[in-house]
Amino acid sequence: MALDVESIRSQFPILQRTLPNGKKLVYFDNAATSQKPLAVIDAMSDFYKNYHANAHRANHTLADESTAALEGARDRISKFFGTSESQMIYTGSATEAMNLVAYGWARYNLSEGDVVVTTEMEHHANIVPWQELSKERGIELRYVPVDTEKFTLDYDAMEVAVEGASLVCVGHVSNVLGVRNDIERVIQMARSQGARIAIDSAQGAPHEKIKFDDLGADFLSVAAHKMAGPTGIGCLLVSEEALSEMGPFLTGGSIVKRVSLEDTLFQEGYAMFETGTPRMAEAIGWRVAVDWLEENVDFEEAHEHVQKIASWMASRMREIPGITVFGYPEREEAIGVVSFLHDTIQAQDLGYLLDAGGFAVRTGHHCAQPLMEAMGVGSTNRASVWIYNTMEEAEAFVSHLESIVSRFS
Ligand code: ALA
Repeated sequence: MALDVESIRSQFPILQRTLPNGKKLVYFDNAATSQKPLAVIDAMSDFYKNYHANAHRANHTLADESTAALEGARDRISKFFGTSESQMIYTGSATEAMNLVAYGWARYNLSEGDVVVTTEMEHHANIVPWQELSKERGIELRYVPVDTEKFTLDYDAMEVAVEGASLVCVGHVSNVLGVRNDIERVIQMARSQGARIAIDSAQGAPHEKIKFDDLGADFLSVAAHKMAGPTGIGCLLVSEEALSEMGPFLTGGSIVKRVSLEDTLFQEGYAMFETGTPRMAEAIGWRVAVDWLEENVDFEEAHEHVQKIASWMASRMREIPGITVFGYPEREEAIGVVSFLHDTIQAQDLGYLLDAGGFAVRTGHHCAQPLMEAMGVGSTNRASVWIYNTMEEAEAFVSHLESIVSRFS
């Protein structure tokens, strides 16, 4: 069965938008952030209108309702990702989740000479925390290179890199190339070395049903806003064993049992990591996004839909004089991202010219400068497809790109 794209589109008010230049919006910047269905927007507005109060702090009616909604959302969202609420820590973003691995786990368990493995393909969120920790703790940081012919990780090099490693951190899907890494194989490699394994799934979870408990990873980061949920919230899913090895990262109120002027006794489990006022409205919105996805989206159909559009775009764009498409969006397992450049029209200029036609794409280094360097470029234009995009939008995009190239090159 195919995805009911018409019904899905009708639930995203922003997709009806006309831009100030009179062009109808065509939104191809989904890898940066997805749009939100009305149900999510309404749920957050309902919270602020009717039961907004700080959770976990008081026993008046609104506080009880807010606490129940926050914790009910944890239960629902964790089940959606194939685990239980005790394994899910709310964070502000997927980036904060990766920092939580670095500062809440690695800082407590690794010392000078211990090895952390990551890759050249990563988002900065899965590189910079490790560099900082390496400076602080003398940890050895190893990078697995990208095979720039195949545009995949070099798995032979990874076999060598993981030898003796304590932690292996790999992106599920590249935000620049849409490459779906063989995380199952990486998990096996890490396990064979007794290493802990962290998956950055900011770009994977919007496209693939995560079954965290079956996957066998220790940590997995998610960003709600890339999968129909609100900004300002994400989570770190953590295996029971890894959670038992973690210590506090950001400290203050909420995460403590008792504080004296001499010392602090911390809460246990996920409660040790959520300091400050919780993200109530965001959790409520995310829960509704998860319900909405379950009701409206079969992930296998969604993948087929997204891959078909991106694959068609990439193959047509390769025929446009001067356009280079990076990687292989045509591959069956690729995830709806088409990164491209023109020989003479600068990426920024091309971004503006596409916007003039109503087409929203991202331009820049996509917070993945080491990958850009491996590809020999400073930036790309990136069109990223999700469940509400259509083949008609892709056709209009390619035809607008053709007309830009014929006018400006
Ligand atoms: N990391 C997001 C992107 O790839 C923001 O655009």
